[in-house]
Amino acid sequence: MIVARNVSDKLERASWIRKMFEEGARLRAERGADRVFDFSLGNPEIEPPEALLATVRRLLDEAEPRRHAYMPNAGFPDVRERIAARLAAESGLPFDAGHVIMTVGAGGALNTLFKAILDPGDEVIVLAPYFVEYGFYIENHGGRMVLVDTDDAFRPDIDRIEAAITERTRAIVVNSPNNPTGVLYDERDYARLDELATRDGREILVVSDEPYRALVFDGVVAPVVPRHVRHAVVCTSWSKSLAIPGERIGYIAISPRVPDAAALAGACTFTHRILGFVNAPALWQRVVAEVGELTIDIGPYQDKRDLLCDELEAIGYELVRPRGAFYVFPRTPIDDLEFIGLLQQEGILAVPGRGFGRANHMRLSLTVPRETIERAIPGFEAAFRKASRAGA
Ligand SMILES: Cc1ncc(COP(=O)(O)O)c(C=O)c1O
Repeated sequence: MIVARNVSDKLERASWIRKMFEEGARLRAERGADRVFDFSLGNPEIEPPEALLATVRRLLDEAEPRRHAYMPNAGFPDVRERIAARLAAESGLPFDAGHVIMTVGAGGALNTLFKAILDPGDEVIVLAPYFVEYGFYIENHGGRMVLVDTDDAFRPDIDRIEAAITERTRAIVVNSPNNPTGVLYDERDYARLDELATRDGREILVVSDEPYRALVFDGVVAPVVPRHVRHAVVCTSWSKSLAIPGERIGYIAISPRVPDAAALAGACTFTHRILGFVNAPALWQRVVAEVGELTIDIGPYQDKRDLLCDELEAIGYELVRPRGAFYVFPRTPIDDLEFIGLLQQEGILAVPGRGFGRANHMRLSLTVPRETIERAIPGFEAAFRKASRAGA
């Protein structure tokens, strides 16, 4: 066999979104594209802000020498300086360029960090439901993912996390606003995680994977994690906040309060290089440094969240209303796989909750036009009624 068993086993586990993709292609061929409502993919459907594109054009036209050459593996020092200055201003901590490593998206940031901190058999706690790639990223570097369920409202359950900590625990991953639930953690959640990660001299890192940080609704501001968590390492990107996931630009920021922060930054710079990333895309480092806090307009996502949640609740679905990111994660009235099948009969594609580590739920992505939601509502209702009759 050409493909390693290790990879073919993982391919099988990674198949939910792919299965939905294939199902979508089948349904489109069968019914016509305008009668298929695809809520399965978290790919921004909008274009990046015009100010961002204008900055890209301007930077490309500026004929500076060696603009496209290699630079230090951690990224351009002046770009890292600007990002560190933003982090220092919002956290009140002495971040400098040495704490920041520019990366190939948030996925690149997480892999770079895990390679730097994991020895074979080391454990990383992940809160379920969760972004499925975490398991693969951790295993890429010999680590073991330890899944810990969140509570019924998808908030961190401190007692369960505490019970999962062992001598091998190197990190706890938190993702807020969350994919797939849209839940936003608050300052109290972080204070309790901080206490757990530092108790009795523990050196557990709290990895804040926060590519959705800017996408929060109802005027809420997401807490600045390093302000509340001493051992915070932020892994993030501009993929979602600027609708540029294909451009692959993000960073790792190691809090100055992390033990041996300088050694960890040096290790991440090295692992970023030897994973073959070498450095983050040069042009995009310049772009994100220039555009500051620019983000997409979150208004339409909030509007679509309201529309979908209001309509689903009126039908009878139970859900926790998301406060950020762009997903809704309702409970399914029957087994999630069976229910996904009923939705498909209505031309609706959703990802079963079990693909994220929480069965009897489903993930619906808001990265669809508003009209798709409006036109899909009768199908959501028909499937719900069928399931209720079957369950009665
Ligand atoms: C929770 C979470 N973390 C990380 C990523 C990866 O982001 P990036 O595209 O910047 O690598 C995603 C992408 O969907 C995500 O949902």
